[in-house]
Amino acid sequence: MKKIIIAIDGFSSTGKSTIAKQLAKHLGYVYVDTGAMYRAVALFAMENGYINKEYFDTQTLINALPDIRLQFQYNNTLGFAEMYLNDTNVENEIRTLNVSQYVSRIAEISEVRAKLVEQQQKMGQERGIVMDGRDIGTVVFPDAEVKIFMNSSAETRAQRRFEELTEKGQVVSFEDVLKNVQERDHIDSNREDSPLIVAKDAIEIDNSEIDKEEQFAQVLELVQKSL
Ligand code: DC
Repeated sequence: MKKIIIAIDGFSSTGKSTIAKQLAKHLGYVYVDTGAMYRAVALFAMENGYINKEYFDTQTLINALPDIRLQFQYNNTLGFAEMYLNDTNVENEIRTLNVSQYVSRIAEISEVRAKLVEQQQKMGQERGIVMDGRDIGTVVFPDAEVKIFMNSSAETRAQRRFEELTEKGQVVSFEDVLKNVQERDHIDSNREDSPLIVAKDAIEIDNSEIDKEEQFAQVLELVQKSL
């Protein structure tokens, strides 16, 4: 059977990764979470003191980009690939609210985007990939056979993220999570380089009201048509 590229874009916490993982498992495809890559670069910048609340040394980060090595390694027990930054597993560290508070500013930098987009395009050379992010259907794989754009209300998304974080034992308030979701929506949609927009040929899904099974059935139908 021919192998295709499935691009899943959308706002934060719309359940992109859930649907992408389900699809990849069903089809035997590789799943790539590109948000994890931007988060790992944000973590690198934070750990090296290039960014904090008052300060962002963009140029030093750009100069250090050749020192950033990002890899995904499949974890059989978890059933998905974990993010490694310079050979260290950073899967947990990159999912904190602290990293979320800086990542959109990191993702505005064209040099960062160029490096990550190049790596993402290489991962899709053989097709047979489900990739989620913000610019997959518009910039990374404009020729993807299936493009999905996911959305739901900011409150629904913040509630999901809040539950995820508290389940992991992180102490956060719903108000802070909602504020972060809204801030990232704004920066991700308004940045100059590769803003979050709906690709012309993307199918839009609003999942505020539908459950995971219903959503998966909808998306699988789209994919099967394309196959
Ligand atoms: O999907 P996520 O919430 O883990 O993504 C984290 C941030 O990374 C998001 O706020 C914007 C940025 N991002 C991006 O600019 N382009 C992508 N393809 C993926 C993520």
